[in-house]
Amino acid sequence: MIMMKQVAIATLGFFIALFFIACSGSVNKPADVSIRHVSDIMKKFDILKLHESSPKLIGKDWMLITSGNEGKFNTMTASWGTLGELWNKPVVVVFIRPQRYTFEFMEANDYFTLCFFDENYRDALNLLGTKSGRDSNKIEESGLTPVKTENGIAFGEGRIIIECKKLYADFLNSDAFIDRKLVDYVYPDGDFHKMYVGEIVNVWRK
Ligand SMILES: Cc1cc2nc3c(=O)[nH]c(=O)nc-3n(C[C@H](O)[C@H](O)[C@H](O)COP(=O)(O)O)c2cc1C
Repeated sequence: MIMMKQVAIATLGFFIALFFIACSGSVNKPADVSIRHVSDIMKKFDILKLHESSPKLIGKDWMLITSGNEGKFNTMTASWGTLGELWNKPVVVVFIRPQRYTFEFMEANDYFTLCFFDENYRDALNLLGTKSGRDSNKIEESGLTPVKTENGIAFGEGRIIIECKKLYADFLNSDAFIDRKLVDYVYPDGDFHKMYVGEIVNVWRK
């Protein structure tokens, strides 16, 4: 009888200990995975004060296009696009093929960000431009740190972050190409880019 009592007390003790271990884990976890706000590390500025060449910034330095929210987001490297003015608004135009995982996020969300880096992050951009978020946790692998913007996600290592609200989107149309060579050269598989025009709503730099 005494023996049974001891076993019961020991079993109860074991489960109480398990309960406390589980609880302490769940208290710590959110703190480990929480994402900082971009305003903690970067300053907002006016896009009219961005004195950088758009073909260099996008075409040569490259950028990350990121869409989604803190719960679920994806990013990819891009080097085709432009910064300018349309419909009396400052805009970006980016081009995303439909097979990209990022495409699904661009379709499902109203906002996206562009993030520009210095040369030290070229390897990360190469990785994020050759692997798909569909197949692996490439963002963790890249070593970049996601940060919250007002309406989306970007990366703390970036030197410039541009947040955009989608204004217009459509697939490029084969019939509309005046230079027909481009259709054969860029789209032999018919996977025409979708063009997104985004209004620039916030800009940050370090
Ligand atoms: C330098 C560079 C530029 C790229 N530019 C574009 C682009 O403008 N549009 C596009 O659809 N894909 C572009 N890509 C390809 C995507 O980044 C690549 O397919 C990526 O793996 C997609 O990731 P995801 O499936 O996680 O979205 C580029 C890749 C590199 C390396």
